[in-house]
Amino acid sequence: MTTASFPAIRMRRGRSSPWMRAMLAEHRLHPSDLIWPLFICEGKDREEPIASLPGVSRWSVDLLAGKAREVAALGIPCIALFPNTPNELRTDDASEALNPDNLICRAIRTIKDAVAEIGVLTDVALDPYTSHGHDGIVDGRGTVLNDETVKILVDQALVQAEAGADIVAPSDMMDGRIGAIRQALEREGHIDIAIMAYAAKYASAFYGPFREAVGSLGRLKGDKRGYQMDSANSDEALREVALDLAEGADFVMVKPGLPYLDVIRRVRDRFEVPTFAYQVSGEYAMIEHAAAAGAGDRDSLILETLLAFKRAGASGVLTYHAPDAARLIAG
Ligand code: PBG
Repeated sequence: MTTASFPAIRMRRGRSSPWMRAMLAEHRLHPSDLIWPLFICEGKDREEPIASLPGVSRWSVDLLAGKAREVAALGIPCIALFPNTPNELRTDDASEALNPDNLICRAIRTIKDAVAEIGVLTDVALDPYTSHGHDGIVDGRGTVLNDETVKILVDQALVQAEAGADIVAPSDMMDGRIGAIRQALEREGHIDIAIMAYAAKYASAFYGPFREAVGSLGRLKGDKRGYQMDSANSDEALREVALDLAEGADFVMVKPGLPYLDVIRRVRDRFEVPTFAYQVSGEYAMIEHAAAAGAGDRDSLILETLLAFKRAGASGVLTYHAPDAARLIAG
């Protein structure tokens, strides 16, 4: 630590010109840091705008190759897929999640066939498929049953792997699911499929627009506090991450994003493994509404918040702003 002080040290020297600031930047945002979450719907040549996510739509499968090409050209390495399952296919046992020809499997195949250079990440959880909107199987008292749910999640992950997913990302927060999925992937020869564990996923008020997007919002009875984490805790997040890594997760995720930067930093420092952040739907909406209300410059808000994840230690960020951010970075 330097002992010199003012005026020998003038911190503003390092901020005195654009080139100086560029030279001294400790962190940088690059398109390859971004994962783009994409909502899918049934139909043909169909775009369905999502009211609570201004600027974000659901797209029918026939339009996905075009979307994938567009973001691949921007240097975005990976797309995360989320289906809006038709209402009549939502059941108490989420059986549509295991249909090898369901919306997400058709989407995976379409993208992998059309655009070789982009990765596809899929969500492993039952909420887009259940009639009650929970991530797992619910008993008569409304409790989500852990072990029964894990059995289905394993099959769901295998169905997605067979369809061509590169990364499966369990977002359900059941105990023991990473180990069970890893074992099944190995057994079935899917040795190169990565698991990105939603390891520290909080029961958050920021998921509202997402639930509208996948059609689970009006269905959900109660909340998800019996399986997602309490926002009061961060030691517990380290335990969750340790367990998921021990069970075979390749990468971990902290979710939501901005309100949990402290958790990202702790995870990265403790485990030194690829750690992703999910800037979730409510955070996206917050930025869009703030900008629309004139409370801040949209482009600057996008880039400042995304850079904050890098500073906190994140390897990458899932964000609905990915295409816009990539364009802004390119200038
Ligand atoms: C479902 C899932 C959720 C999100 C990603 N996967 C919602 C939830 O847990 O209720 C939220 C993403 C977002 O808000 O952008 N398991």
